[in-house]
This record gives sequence, C-alpha cells and structure tokens, in this order.
Amino acid sequence: MAHHGCVDAQMGLSIRQTFTIHNIYQQEIFQKEAVKNTIRGGIMVEITIRPILLTDAKDIWEMRIQGEVANNMGTDISERLEETENKIKSLDSNTRSFVAVASLENGTEKVVGYIVLSIYNNLRYSHIGSLGLMVNPKYQRNGIGSKLLETVIDLADNWLHLYKIELEVDVDNEKAIQLYKKYNFEMEGTRRATKVSDGKYVDCYYMGRIRS
Ligand SMILES: CC(C)(COP(=O)(O)OP(=O)(O)OC[C@H]1O[C@@H](n2cnc3c(N)ncnc32)[C@H](O)[C@@H]1OP(=O)(O)O)[C@@H](O)C(=O)NCCC(=O)NCCS
Repeated sequence: MAHHGCVDAQMGLSIRQTFTIHNIYQQEIFQKEAVKNTIRGGIMVEITIRPILLTDAKDIWEMRIQGEVANNMGTDISERLEETENKIKSLDSNTRSFVAVASLENGTEKVVGYIVLSIYNNLRYSHIGSLGLMVNPKYQRNGIGSKLLETVIDLADNWLHLYKIELEVDVDNEKAIQLYKKYNFEMEGTRRATKVSDGKYVDCYYMGRIRS
C-alpha cells in the first residue's frame, strides 16, 4: 500500500510517495514512486486497471476535452458528456477498452487513463487491432500509459491472438512515439494532412507492432 514521503520543503507543493498499480486482468502489482503536485492532481494511492464502465463517462469526457488530449486524440473541446456516454454505450464486442482508476488520498476515485483496442470486423483484417490511448495530463509520467499499453498487448497477444496492433500518431507527438517505440511499435509510414490542429493540417505516422 501507499507509503507517504516528505513534503518538499522548498516547493511546498510536491509530495513524494509510492503508489501501487494493480492490473486486475493480470493480477499484477506494480510499485512506483511518484512526485505529484498537490494542486495539479490529487495524490494517488493506488491505480487499478479494469474494463470500462458507463459510469466512467464523466472522467473520460473531462480528459477528452482537455486541450492536449483533445489535440492528440482528434476529439474536439466542444464534445458533450452525452456524446462520450454514447460512445461507451456503443462499444461492441470487437472493441475492448480498459481504464486506469486512481484511488486518491482523500478517499475518492478518479479515472485517469483510458485505452481502446478495436479489432477489425472484416474477416481478412480481423488479425489486426487498432489502438487509442490517453492519460489525464495531471497524472502523466507515472507509468500509467505503459501499464494500460501492457494490459492491451497481453490481451492482444495471449488471449485474442491478434497478429498485429496498429495506430496513428501525430508526427509531433514525441511522448507517445517514444512510448510506442519502447513497446516495439515500428514506423510504417506517414499519412499526410490527416487532421486539423490549431488551424493547420497535420501529418501523422502509422505505427505497428507485429506479435513476435
Ligand atoms: C502518451 C501518453 C499516453 C503517455 O502516458 P504516460 O502515463 O505519461 O506514460 P508513462 O508514464 O507510462 O511513460 C512511458 C514512456 O512514454 C514516454 N514519455 C512519456 N512522457 C514523456 C515526455 N514528457 N517526454 C518524453 N517521453 C515521454 C517515455 O518513453 C516514457 O518512458 P520512461 O518514463 O521510461 O522514459 C500521454 O502523454 C497522453 O495521454 N498524451 C495525450 C494523448 C495522446 O497523445 N495519446 C496518444 C495518441 S496516439
């Protein structure tokens, strides 16, 4: 369980503490020490990764319309809560989705990360899953994105027996590109003028990971 470290005397706001990440799917426990700013985000005690529920909609909606996430995920900041709820309701059996739930020190819980794997319906493409991933900016760089990705890679490789996971990532999204490379995703090409971002058309990379 969590063990609390010290309040940073100079900054006054940062607390160093250890929190655990449970992956209920793999029954795996992961420990990580994080330095969190007490004002930016709540202090995490524990993270649990589990399949998505409709009641997660509000936290996911807040993440989706947040500037950085909206920009990189291709959502827009005018998305309404009901639209997010409808997306969750309409997930079909070919779309597998997990969330990372943070238990906060004040006793509340918050969904701070989300991953989705969509398996193609067309039988000749059904060996491929397409990936989307986001972590609430207040909780980034704590290993949450990695653990969500590991959960989906395990699902794809060992339970669904998919041959390939693929994704699209903006060419300037260095954080995500580095994360995917760490998990053996390779560059496959560039798609030009994929979406509108801040008034301009931006390119994205196709990346893919073939099961070894
Ligand atoms: C990309 C994203 C999911 C990473 O989530 P995260 O929880 O912060 O990731 P982790 O803490 O597990 O970091 C894993 C790796 O990602 C890379 N990374 C993450 N943040 C980084 C940063 N600020 N600078 C450079 N690399 C970074 C590193 O390789 C890191 O490994 P390391 O800590 O051993 O160096 C998160 O930044 C995010 O949600 N961004 C907005 C939405 C988005 O871009 N989604 C992907 C769309 S394709």
